[in-house]
Parts: sequence; structure tokens; C-alpha cells
Amino acid sequence: MFIESFKVESPNVKYKNNEIQSVYNYETTELVHENRNGTYQWVVKPKTVKYEFKTDTHVPKLGVILVGWGGNNGSTLTGGTIANKEVISWATKDKVEQATYFGSLTQASTIRVGSYNGEEIYAPFKSLLPMVKPEDIVFGGWDISDMNLADAMARAKTANTGRYNNVIVGLNDTLESLLASLEKNESEISPSTLYAIACVLENVPFINGSPQNTFVPGLIDLAIQRKCLIGGDDFKSGQTKMKSILVDFLVGTGIKEISKSNVVDDMVSRNGILYEPGEHHDHVVVIKYVPYVGDSKRDMDEYTSEIFMGGKNTIVLHNTCEDSLLVAPIILDLVLLAELSTRIQFMAEGEGKFNSFHHVATILSYLTKAPLLNHVMHEEIIASKKDDCWQKQVPPGTPVVNALSKQRAMLENILRACIGLASENNMILEYK
Ligand SMILES: NC(=O)c1ccc[n+]([C@@H]2O[C@H](COP(=O)([O-])OP(=O)(O)OC[C@H]3O[C@@H](n4cnc5c(N)ncnc54)[C@H](O)[C@@H]3O)[C@@H](O)[C@H]2O)c1
Repeated sequence: MFIESFKVESPNVKYKNNEIQSVYNYETTELVHENRNGTYQWVVKPKTVKYEFKTDTHVPKLGVILVGWGGNNGSTLTGGTIANKEVISWATKDKVEQATYFGSLTQASTIRVGSYNGEEIYAPFKSLLPMVKPEDIVFGGWDISDMNLADAMARAKTANTGRYNNVIVGLNDTLESLLASLEKNESEISPSTLYAIACVLENVPFINGSPQNTFVPGLIDLAIQRKCLIGGDDFKSGQTKMKSILVDFLVGTGIKEISKSNVVDDMVSRNGILYEPGEHHDHVVVIKYVPYVGDSKRDMDEYTSEIFMGGKNTIVLHNTCEDSLLVAPIILDLVLLAELSTRIQFMAEGEGKFNSFHHVATILSYLTKAPLLNHVMHEEIIASKKDDCWQKQVPPGTPVVNALSKQRAMLENILRACIGLASENNMILEYK
């Protein structure tokens, strides 16, 4: 059964005038590698950490600036949101279509809230916490093309990617060098990095939906110093989403995936039965732009795995889709969740003060391909690469979780914690 909204009644949650306060017992584990009677063994110790959350329930007026507004994604998102706001419908040869938010996690997906008379009850994802309504967003932006937005919506282009930054010591590797380079008008600072610097200096969250390394180390430092949220990189729309589901499924069922890329490294490394440490795999990606098909992209993916007794298992996928129609709802979710996350604060037992989420927003990782790593990990990787070369880069893959279902569960469970609900554990013990 589907319900539109709900309220939690529990000693763990208080709905105040301007905020929701909750207490959440985080059940986790602590691992110890210790010598007992002459042999080392791993000991897992369950522990419970009490967290307090508070969420500001005042939903602000939200403005979104889209860099490259006249492109496929910017114009599709703007047009799609207006179509929803104006409840526009249009006839196609098949049927009369209505504007929808299909593809949006916040607007079109649901969460399980419990059971009633033996029936599972689901509510909209957006009913978890007060969020901005997409129709209330004020869109703005700019574009180097001077085409008006209506004409821009009518054209189909191939997706432009911003240029990559060379990460160079003294140029953009630290906060100081980046700001000094800005003063000197250094040409190596790419336009997308300039846009991001401008946002961070204004304390406006910045999300990079493109694959290029907009977030050079100096910029990450700046965001952390200014406590400004940054998220990215690269919208996770079709092929990567599929890959992160398939590899999770294959490795999770004990099948050895032999064709993969770094976006699934964490899933592969967790199974030491299937993979030797540091084992490398074949992975080839070829992207061809075919002007005739415009925005209607074709993905042809082949996943080959080793199964029982050296057998082979090959899965071939063919996916045809309008790229910007997959991406527009993802941009919407990123914007709405980034805004929401700036209203949430939490404190672990004994910490003494509330904190915001880390400024490098990994909770948005469900929606982006190469989730940025947090600063500490970043420094470690930079340090480990120092001997290799001075071309320091924000690594494209990160140690954060890449499996799609885990990323979604992380997001959902954190929002559940904000209203004093336990994590969804899928045990359904009441029916066992
Ligand atoms: N499925 C997808 O569509 C998808 C998935 C992941 C990531 N992306 C990324 O999203 C971005 C946008 O995709 P798109 O399909 O809208 O691309 P697009 O080529 O249709 O639009 C890009 C727009 O950016 C403008 N532009 C270029 N340089 C600019 C600058 N310096 N300042 C302001 N505007 C500038 C261009 O004039 C163009 O209108 C791309 O970088 C793409 O790689 C897209």
C-alpha cells in the first residue's frame, strides 16, 4: 500500500517548531587484529554509538545556477520542471503524455515505512524530511552559446566535457597556490574550476556533473576551509549505474567479474575468495559520437565472468535512451539533496558539538559516478603518489562505496535516522 505522508511517534524524535530532533543508536563494529596465544586473529566487537540529529525544517527559497544552461541537460531540466509546474500534457502518436518526474529518487521513488494488517506500507522518498519542491526552484545560469533557451531545448548536441586541469605544484595543488594563480590569471585554471571557486567563495554549494577534474586539490582545500559543500564528479545516469548494479550482483553471488573499471573497485576488493590482492582486470570503454542519433544514446555492454569450475558467463546489454532525460532528474535530486544536507547537523556521543556533513558531500554518491573522496583520504593518496610524479590529481575513483544499492541505503538510512527511524535492515522478522 502507498501512503502520501507519515509522522513518527517515538521517544527518539521531537518535532519542534523549526527543527526535528532525533536520537539514533548506530550499531556498528570495531575490528581488532590481536595476538592471542601466539596467533594473530581478527576480533569483531559490536558497538553502539549514540548519535543526535537535528534538521532545520524551514524550507528555503532555492535558486540553482546551471553552467551550460543552454545544453541538453540544462535546457531539459528547466523545460521539464516548467512542464511539471504548469501540468503540461502533449500528444504523441502513442498516447497523451503527462509531465512526470520519473527517474528522480526524491520525487518518484518510495521507501518502506512498515507494515499494516500484514501489508507492506510505502511512502514517497521525499516524505522523509521537508524538502524544496522542484516547482519552487528558481533556475538561472549562463552559457557561452547565445541561443535562447527555447531554441536550445529544440536542438540536440553531443555532450561537451570541460577540459581537464593539469594539477601542478605551485599552481593549483594547495589553497594558497590556487588563489595566487587566480590573481595571476593563469590560463591553466579551467573555466569549470573558476565557476567552482566563485561558488565556494560565495558559500554556495557546487556540484560538478561532468567528468573533468574541476575539483583540483587547492579547490577541495578551499571548500573545506570555507565549510562549503562540493559534490561530484559526473552524473551517474545509464551505463555506470548499470555497471555498479551488475558487478555488485555478480561479486555478491560469488561470480568472478573479469571486465570492470575503477568505479567498482571496492566491490571487487571485498571478495578475497574471487580475487587476488591487486589483481587487474580487462576493461575497455569505447565512446563514439554518432550525430544522427543526437541525444538518443546507445550503450552496448558486455560483462564476462568466471563461474563454477572455470565456466564463462557473458551478459550482453543493449540500452537505448535519451541521455538528458536520464540526467535531468538526477540533477534535480542532487540539488534538492544538497540543499537538504545543509540543513542537517549531527553529533556523536561525547563529541560535545553538532557538525554538518563533511563538505565533500559523499552522501550524494548515489547520483554521481566518481564520488569525491574526503580530505583525509585525499591527502593520503596524494602522499602515496608524491614519489611517482608531480601531476597530482583528485583521484577519479574513491574509497567510498560504489555499489548502487549500498549508496541508496546509506542515503535513505541517514534520512531515516533524522526522524528517529531504525535503518532498513530487510529482515522482516515479524513474518518469519
Ligand atoms: N547522460 C548525460 O547526458 C551525462 C551524463 C554524465 C555527465 N554529463 C555531463 O554533463 C555536462 C552537460 O551535458 P549536456 O548534454 O548538457 O552537454 P551539451 O554539450 O548539450 O551542453 C553543454 C553546454 O555548455 C556550454 N558551455 C561550454 N563551455 C562553457 C563555459 N565555459 N561556460 C558556460 N557554458 C559553457 C555549451 O555552450 C553548451 O550549451 C557534460 O559535461 C557531460 O559530460 C552528461
